[in-house]
Amino acid sequence: MKTDDRTASYLEGFTETEDEPLRAARARSEEGDLPAVSLATGALLRWFARLLGARHVVEVGSGGGYSGLWLMGGMDPRGSLTTIELDRDHLSLAQRAYSEGGVSDRVRAILGAGLAVLPKLADATYDIVFLDAVKAEYPDYLEHATRMLRPGGLLLADNVLWSGRVADASQTDEDTEGLRTFNAAVRDDPRLSQTVFTVGDGLLAATYHPEAAAR
Ligand SMILES: C[S@@+](CC[C@H](N)C(=O)[O-])C[C@H]1O[C@@H](n2cnc3c(N)ncnc32)[C@H](O)[C@@H]1O
Repeated sequence: MKTDDRTASYLEGFTETEDEPLRAARARSEEGDLPAVSLATGALLRWFARLLGARHVVEVGSGGGYSGLWLMGGMDPRGSLTTIELDRDHLSLAQRAYSEGGVSDRVRAILGAGLAVLPKLADATYDIVFLDAVKAEYPDYLEHATRMLRPGGLLLADNVLWSGRVADASQTDEDTEGLRTFNAAVRDDPRLSQTVFTVGDGLLAATYHPEAAAR
């Protein structure tokens, strides 16, 4: 839909806003040149977490904790976030954000590489698996996500449009190729029902229905 100026201005009244912990987490991420999800993407993460009443969520790529705070904001108050981060300094920033958001006691923050940590996480347990680390590794993360999601759970992945590079056939770097492989693998998996939201850098959302593969 084409959005005219008047409609755009009307919609501004419905835009999500950040509370102080979110604002501070985003500011620190920007200062550290650490790309966080967009505000609209964060609001969508929270909405999904709330819709599912999520209690068990995994995030790959904590960054400065911005996306984790959005997820926690929508999760069931008894829920816990398991977040995996390779970089010690980033994880410290994220932990500061969780502390400021008052959710530290419900976050299991794991320092390590996604592909080393994911195999240790439980099968068929998680309501949401959110991917936001190495784009070239998304196809490998997908194997773990389908193992870890409970039936009816939700796979979320940021940056699936990669600033337009995924749709540009002349771009063949490993991150872009990894995202193309991932997007196609999700689309072609009969257990996953997917859509791509054109918020931020592209957010893929796919519900997991293992029983659908048997039909
Ligand atoms: C795009 S940032 C995450 C931003 C965060 N999700 C947010 O929106 O606030 C990607 C993060 O993945 C981390 N990372 C890089 N390689 C990784 C790996 N192999 N496993 C886990 N995290 C990794 C980076 O250090 C960085 O903090």
